[in-house]
Amino acid sequence: MKHLLSLLETSEQDIQDILNLADIVKAEVKQGIYKPYLKNKTIGLIFEKNSTRTRVSFEVGAVQLGAYPLFLDASTMQIGRGEPIQDTARVLSRYLDGIMIRTFEQAEVEALAEYGDIPIINGLTDFAHPCQVLADLQTIREYKGKLEGLKMTFIGDGNNMCNSLMVGALKTGMSFACACPEGYLPDPKCLDFAKAYGDKFQLTNDPMEAAKDADVILTDVWASMGEEGEAAQRKAVFEGVYQVNAKLMEQAKSDCMVLHCLPAHRGEEITEDVFEAHANEIFDEAENRLHAQKAVMVLLMQD
Ligand code: CP
Ligand code: NVA
Repeated sequence: MKHLLSLLETSEQDIQDILNLADIVKAEVKQGIYKPYLKNKTIGLIFEKNSTRTRVSFEVGAVQLGAYPLFLDASTMQIGRGEPIQDTARVLSRYLDGIMIRTFEQAEVEALAEYGDIPIINGLTDFAHPCQVLADLQTIREYKGKLEGLKMTFIGDGNNMCNSLMVGALKTGMSFACACPEGYLPDPKCLDFAKAYGDKFQLTNDPMEAAKDADVILTDVWASMGEEGEAAQRKAVFEGVYQVNAKLMEQAKSDCMVLHCLPAHRGEEITEDVFEAHANEIFDEAENRLHAQKAVMVLLMQD
């Protein structure tokens, strides 16, 4: 594995290796052990969108590994004034040992990987959110003891989370159902990938149908970062139907987990009662961003 661009390009074995190492580094930290796996390394963290979890977990994770993280606000970099990503990639490759980037276009992340010669980690694009989904898989495995054979359901917008969950679930032996409204379907590349899994994959417009017998249900905001201008129009489409609420949970298995990448909009994609009933799972999921990303950094950046 040279980069983490999306889970489509990440092999099943690499996903398992990340999850296994994530469990190890988590156990080490719980015992107060901080091994300097990345001593003297540097990682640049480029943000073209807001972040709480991704920024803090990457900064803290790098420090715990003995590396030095640089927070790089894209609006104050020359990329913010039009310097091409191809040149930025070649310059930063001379200084840094790795880059995490949060941006809009997946093509930008791919260009960094193509023109630079250091590992590139996708910290969220409009297309994918692989770091989040690795943390989600780690959390499900912690609670359920396995991934193989479980059913994951996603309710809502066919966005970056839906795309990455679909690929991550199917690559780890889970079945995947998603309920998205017409016009808000997942990316065609991910749908093509998923269709090869036959009846382990289901796409529907009906949340109740998708939630049937689920082991874990996930949802995400109706309007993602960059889509703020469409928020009212999206609300009109999603409201009242594409919501994780008590009635939907009745369709799922009685021990069904609920996860949310956060930030959550209570009363929109998830109700307050369901969110709070599953808060332990959701905040363990948030914590696992730290451990899963430390595993990614080690596997990509260690000598
Ligand atoms: N879930 C997630 O990526 O959170 P942030 O936007 O706060 O980084
Ligand atoms: N789909 C959301 C995820 C935020 C972590 C967004 O892209 O804004």
